[in-house]
Amino acid sequence: MIENLENTLKKAKKFVFLTGAGISQESGISTFRGKEGLWQKYDPMKLVSAQAFRDDPKLVWSWYNDRRRKILAAKPNAGHVAIANLQNHREVSVITQNVDGLHHIAGSRDVIEIHGNIFATKCTKCDFRGNIGDEFSDLPPSCKICGSYLRPDVVWFGESIKQDVWKEAVKRSMACDVMIIVGTSLVVSPANTLHFYAKNNQAAIVDINPENTPFSYEMDFSIRQTAVEGLSRLISIFESPF
Ligand code: OAD
Ligand code: ZN
Repeated sequence: MIENLENTLKKAKKFVFLTGAGISQESGISTFRGKEGLWQKYDPMKLVSAQAFRDDPKLVWSWYNDRRRKILAAKPNAGHVAIANLQNHREVSVITQNVDGLHHIAGSRDVIEIHGNIFATKCTKCDFRGNIGDEFSDLPPSCKICGSYLRPDVVWFGESIKQDVWKEAVKRSMACDVMIIVGTSLVVSPANTLHFYAKNNQAAIVDINPENTPFSYEMDFSIRQTAVEGLSRLISIFESPF
Protein backbone atom coordinates (compact mmCIF):
# COMPACT_ATOMS: atom_id res chain seq x y z
CA MET A 1 0.00 0.00 0.00
CA ILE A 2 2.79 2.43 0.88
CA GLU A 3 4.65 1.70 -2.34
CA ASN A 4 1.43 2.15 -4.20
CA LEU A 5 0.94 5.54 -2.56
CA GLU A 6 4.49 6.51 -3.48
CA ASN A 7 3.93 5.63 -7.13
CA THR A 8 0.65 7.49 -7.21
CA LEU A 9 2.26 10.62 -5.78
CA LYS A 10 5.30 10.45 -8.05
CA LYS A 11 3.14 10.12 -11.16
CA ALA A 12 0.83 13.00 -10.20
CA LYS A 13 1.41 16.43 -11.74
CA LYS A 14 -1.22 18.57 -10.04
CA PHE A 15 -1.67 18.47 -6.29
CA VAL A 16 -4.42 20.06 -4.25
CA PHE A 17 -4.13 20.20 -0.48
CA LEU A 18 -7.34 20.73 1.45
CA THR A 19 -6.39 21.75 4.96
CA GLY A 20 -8.14 22.41 8.25
CA ALA A 21 -7.33 23.39 11.81
CA GLY A 22 -5.36 20.16 12.43
CA ILE A 23 -2.47 21.31 10.23
CA SER A 24 -1.86 24.28 12.55
CA GLN A 25 -2.28 22.25 15.75
CA GLU A 26 1.45 21.52 15.88
CA SER A 27 2.07 25.27 15.57
CA GLY A 28 0.20 25.65 18.87
CA ILE A 29 -3.12 26.84 17.44
CA SER A 30 -6.20 25.11 18.84
CA THR A 31 -8.52 23.09 16.64
CA PHE A 32 -12.30 23.57 16.93
CA ARG A 33 -13.51 20.07 17.67
CA GLY A 34 -12.09 17.26 19.75
CA LYS A 35 -11.07 17.15 23.42
CA GLU A 36 -8.87 20.27 23.32
CA GLY A 37 -10.96 22.07 20.70
CA LEU A 38 -12.24 25.65 21.00
CA TRP A 39 -15.88 24.50 20.76
CA GLN A 40 -15.44 22.57 24.03
CA LYS A 41 -14.84 25.88 25.81
CA TYR A 42 -16.92 28.32 23.77
CA ASP A 43 -20.36 28.32 22.23
CA PRO A 44 -19.83 29.02 18.52
CA MET A 45 -23.28 30.57 18.22
CA LYS A 46 -22.24 33.28 20.71
CA LEU A 47 -19.03 34.08 18.83
CA VAL A 48 -19.01 33.21 15.16
CA SER A 49 -22.28 34.41 13.71
CA ALA A 50 -23.56 37.78 12.49
CA GLN A 51 -26.19 37.67 15.25
CA ALA A 52 -23.52 37.17 17.91
CA PHE A 53 -21.62 40.19 16.58
CA ARG A 54 -24.79 42.33 16.62
CA ASP A 55 -25.59 41.17 20.19
CA ASP A 56 -22.13 41.73 21.65
CA PRO A 57 -19.55 43.21 19.26
CA LYS A 58 -17.05 43.77 22.07
CA LEU A 59 -17.11 40.14 23.20
CA VAL A 60 -16.76 38.80 19.67
CA TRP A 61 -14.00 41.29 18.82
CA SER A 62 -12.03 40.48 21.97
CA TRP A 63 -12.29 36.74 21.25
CA TYR A 64 -10.90 37.43 17.77
CA ASN A 65 -8.14 39.57 19.28
CA ASP A 66 -7.14 36.65 21.52
CA ARG A 67 -7.01 34.36 18.53
CA ARG A 68 -5.02 36.93 16.52
CA ARG A 69 -2.46 37.23 19.32
CA LYS A 70 -2.01 33.43 19.42
CA ILE A 71 -1.68 33.29 15.65
CA LEU A 72 0.87 36.13 15.58
CA ALA A 73 2.94 34.21 18.13
CA ALA A 74 2.79 31.02 16.05
CA LYS A 75 5.09 29.89 13.24
CA PRO A 76 4.38 27.57 10.34
CA ASN A 77 5.37 24.00 11.18
CA ALA A 78 7.14 21.35 9.11
CA GLY A 79 3.76 20.34 7.64
CA HIS A 80 3.09 23.81 6.17
CA VAL A 81 6.70 23.93 4.99
CA ALA A 82 6.51 20.49 3.32
CA ILE A 83 3.49 21.65 1.29
CA ALA A 84 5.36 24.82 0.26
CA ASN A 85 8.45 22.77 -0.68
CA LEU A 86 6.42 20.49 -2.91
CA GLN A 87 6.10 23.53 -5.23
CA ASN A 88 9.73 22.86 -6.18
CA HIS A 89 8.63 19.56 -7.68
CA ARG A 90 4.96 19.77 -8.69
CA GLU A 91 2.06 22.15 -9.36
CA VAL A 92 0.46 22.77 -5.97
CA SER A 93 -2.72 24.55 -4.89
CA VAL A 94 -3.76 24.88 -1.29
CA ILE A 95 -7.40 25.22 -0.33
CA THR A 96 -7.60 26.00 3.34
CA GLN A 97 -10.40 26.41 5.84
CA ASN A 98 -7.91 28.09 8.16
CA VAL A 99 -7.90 31.84 8.70
CA ASP A 100 -4.40 31.96 10.22
CA GLY A 101 -2.39 32.73 7.06
CA LEU A 102 0.33 30.18 7.96
CA HIS A 103 0.39 28.62 4.50
CA HIS A 104 1.36 32.00 3.00
CA ILE A 105 4.02 32.55 5.64
CA ALA A 106 5.44 29.08 4.94
CA GLY A 107 5.83 30.11 1.28
CA SER A 108 2.85 28.54 -0.47
CA ARG A 109 2.04 30.76 -3.45
CA ASP A 110 -1.34 29.49 -4.50
CA VAL A 111 -3.57 29.55 -1.41
CA ILE A 112 -7.34 29.81 -1.49
CA GLU A 113 -8.64 30.81 1.95
CA ILE A 114 -12.23 29.69 1.66
CA HIS A 115 -13.17 30.88 5.18
CA GLY A 116 -11.29 34.20 4.88
CA ASN A 117 -8.41 35.59 6.92
CA ILE A 118 -8.47 36.66 10.56
CA PHE A 119 -6.40 39.81 9.88
CA ALA A 120 -8.78 41.05 7.17
CA THR A 121 -11.81 43.21 7.98
CA LYS A 122 -14.94 44.24 6.16
CA CYS A 123 -17.66 46.74 6.94
CA THR A 124 -20.91 45.46 8.39
CA LYS A 125 -22.84 47.93 6.19
CA CYS A 126 -20.91 49.02 3.07
CA ASP A 127 -18.35 47.41 0.75
CA PHE A 128 -15.25 48.68 2.55
CA ARG A 129 -12.54 46.08 3.18
CA GLY A 130 -9.35 46.51 5.15
CA ASN A 131 -6.65 44.80 7.19
CA ILE A 132 -5.63 45.13 10.79
CA GLY A 133 -2.07 45.13 11.99
CA ASP A 134 -0.85 43.98 15.38
CA GLU A 135 -2.54 46.76 17.41
CA PHE A 136 -5.80 45.51 18.75
CA SER A 137 -8.61 47.78 19.92
CA ASP A 138 -11.14 46.73 22.60
CA LEU A 139 -14.03 47.59 20.34
CA PRO A 140 -14.25 46.77 16.64
CA PRO A 141 -12.83 49.64 14.55
CA SER A 142 -15.20 51.91 12.61
CA CYS A 143 -15.49 52.00 8.86
CA LYS A 144 -13.67 54.98 7.29
CA ILE A 145 -16.48 55.40 4.80
CA CYS A 146 -19.74 54.96 6.71
CA GLY A 147 -18.73 54.79 10.37
CA SER A 148 -20.28 51.35 11.03
CA TYR A 149 -18.40 48.61 12.81
CA LEU A 150 -15.83 46.62 10.88
CA ARG A 151 -15.95 42.84 11.44
CA PRO A 152 -13.47 40.08 10.69
CA ASP A 153 -13.59 39.15 7.00
CA VAL A 154 -14.18 35.49 7.77
CA VAL A 155 -17.07 33.18 7.01
CA TRP A 156 -19.36 32.79 10.01
CA PHE A 157 -21.99 30.15 10.65
CA GLY A 158 -25.00 30.74 8.44
CA GLU A 159 -22.91 32.62 5.83
CA SER A 160 -21.74 31.56 2.40
CA ILE A 161 -18.23 31.40 1.03
CA LYS A 162 -17.62 34.21 -1.51
CA GLN A 163 -18.81 32.93 -4.85
CA ASP A 164 -15.63 33.59 -6.83
CA VAL A 165 -13.50 31.99 -4.09
CA TRP A 166 -15.66 28.87 -4.01
CA LYS A 167 -15.69 28.60 -7.82
CA GLU A 168 -11.90 28.69 -7.83
CA ALA A 169 -11.73 25.98 -5.14
CA VAL A 170 -14.05 23.76 -7.15
CA LYS A 171 -12.07 24.40 -10.35
CA ARG A 172 -8.79 23.36 -8.71
CA SER A 173 -10.42 20.30 -7.16
CA MET A 174 -11.78 19.20 -10.51
CA ALA A 175 -8.39 19.57 -12.18
CA CYS A 176 -6.05 17.81 -9.76
CA ASP A 177 -4.46 14.36 -9.96
CA VAL A 178 -4.15 14.02 -6.19
CA MET A 179 -6.05 15.67 -3.39
CA ILE A 180 -4.40 15.48 0.02
CA ILE A 181 -6.72 16.32 2.88
CA VAL A 182 -4.88 17.34 6.04
CA GLY A 183 -6.19 17.99 9.54
CA THR A 184 -9.85 18.57 8.90
CA SER A 185 -12.79 16.81 10.51
CA LEU A 186 -14.72 17.18 7.20
CA VAL A 187 -17.92 18.03 9.05
CA VAL A 188 -18.29 21.58 7.75
CA SER A 189 -20.01 22.09 4.43
CA PRO A 190 -19.32 22.91 1.64
CA ALA A 191 -15.57 22.34 2.23
CA ASN A 192 -16.35 18.67 2.86
CA THR A 193 -17.69 18.25 -0.69
CA LEU A 194 -14.50 19.23 -2.55
CA HIS A 195 -13.10 15.70 -2.58
CA PHE A 196 -16.11 14.59 -4.62
CA TYR A 197 -15.09 17.00 -7.38
CA ALA A 198 -11.58 15.59 -7.27
CA LYS A 199 -12.86 12.02 -7.40
CA ASN A 200 -14.93 12.84 -10.46
CA ASN A 201 -11.65 13.65 -12.18
CA GLN A 202 -10.23 10.23 -11.13
CA ALA A 203 -7.90 11.96 -8.70
CA ALA A 204 -6.46 9.89 -5.86
CA ILE A 205 -7.68 11.06 -2.47
CA VAL A 206 -5.38 10.87 0.54
CA ASP A 207 -6.07 11.96 4.09
CA ILE A 208 -3.57 12.77 6.79
CA ASN A 209 -5.23 12.82 10.18
CA PRO A 210 -4.60 10.87 13.40
CA GLU A 211 -8.37 10.25 13.57
CA ASN A 212 -11.03 8.92 11.24
CA THR A 213 -13.46 11.34 9.64
CA PRO A 214 -17.00 10.75 8.32
CA PHE A 215 -15.43 10.44 4.85
CA SER A 216 -12.57 8.09 5.66
CA TYR A 217 -14.29 5.36 3.66
CA GLU A 218 -13.95 7.56 0.52
CA MET A 219 -10.16 7.83 0.79
CA ASP A 220 -7.79 5.89 -1.46
CA PHE A 221 -5.04 6.19 1.16
CA SER A 222 -5.23 7.17 4.80
CA ILE A 223 -2.17 8.23 6.74
CA ARG A 224 -3.01 8.04 10.43
CA GLN A 225 -0.33 10.46 11.56
CA THR A 226 -0.11 14.10 12.51
CA ALA A 227 0.33 16.72 9.80
CA VAL A 228 4.03 17.15 10.59
CA GLU A 229 4.71 13.40 10.54
CA GLY A 230 2.61 12.61 7.48
CA LEU A 231 3.66 15.58 5.36
CA SER A 232 7.36 15.22 6.22
CA ARG A 233 7.16 11.63 5.00
CA LEU A 234 5.33 12.71 1.88
CA ILE A 235 7.88 15.38 0.90
CA SER A 236 10.74 12.96 1.51
CA ILE A 237 9.46 10.92 -1.45
CA PHE A 238 10.27 13.89 -3.70
CA GLU A 239 13.41 15.09 -2.00
CA SER A 240 15.23 11.77 -1.59
CA PRO A 241 18.15 11.45 -4.05
CA PHE A 242 17.20 7.85 -4.98
P1 OAD B 1 -11.83 20.69 13.37
O1 OAD B 1 -11.43 21.20 14.69
O2 OAD B 1 -13.26 20.38 13.15
O3 OAD B 1 -11.03 19.35 13.05
C1 OAD B 1 -9.65 19.26 13.23
C2 OAD B 1 -9.19 17.94 12.67
O4 OAD B 1 -7.77 17.90 12.78
C3 OAD B 1 -9.72 16.70 13.39
O5 OAD B 1 -10.18 15.75 12.45
C4 OAD B 1 -8.49 16.17 14.15
O6 OAD B 1 -8.48 14.73 14.25
C5 OAD B 1 -7.36 16.64 13.27
N1 OAD B 1 -6.09 16.87 13.95
C6 OAD B 1 -5.85 17.25 15.23
N2 OAD B 1 -4.52 17.40 15.46
C7 OAD B 1 -3.91 17.13 14.28
C8 OAD B 1 -2.55 17.12 13.85
N3 OAD B 1 -1.55 17.45 14.68
N4 OAD B 1 -2.29 16.79 12.56
C9 OAD B 1 -3.28 16.46 11.71
N5 OAD B 1 -4.58 16.45 12.06
C10 OAD B 1 -4.90 16.78 13.32
O7 OAD B 1 -11.26 21.73 12.29
P2 OAD B 1 -11.73 21.97 10.80
O8 OAD B 1 -12.07 20.71 10.12
O9 OAD B 1 -10.73 22.87 10.17
O10 OAD B 1 -15.22 27.23 10.44
O11 OAD B 1 -13.07 22.80 11.03
C11 OAD B 1 -13.77 23.27 9.95
C12 OAD B 1 -14.40 24.59 10.26
O12 OAD B 1 -15.16 24.49 11.47
C13 OAD B 1 -13.42 25.71 10.58
O13 OAD B 1 -12.90 26.34 9.42
C14 OAD B 1 -14.27 26.66 11.36
C15 OAD B 1 -14.94 25.67 12.28
O14 OAD B 1 -16.16 26.08 12.80
C16 OAD B 1 -15.50 28.51 10.47
O15 OAD B 1 -15.03 29.27 11.29
C17 OAD B 1 -16.46 28.93 9.39
ZN1 ZN C 1 -18.80 51.05 5.83
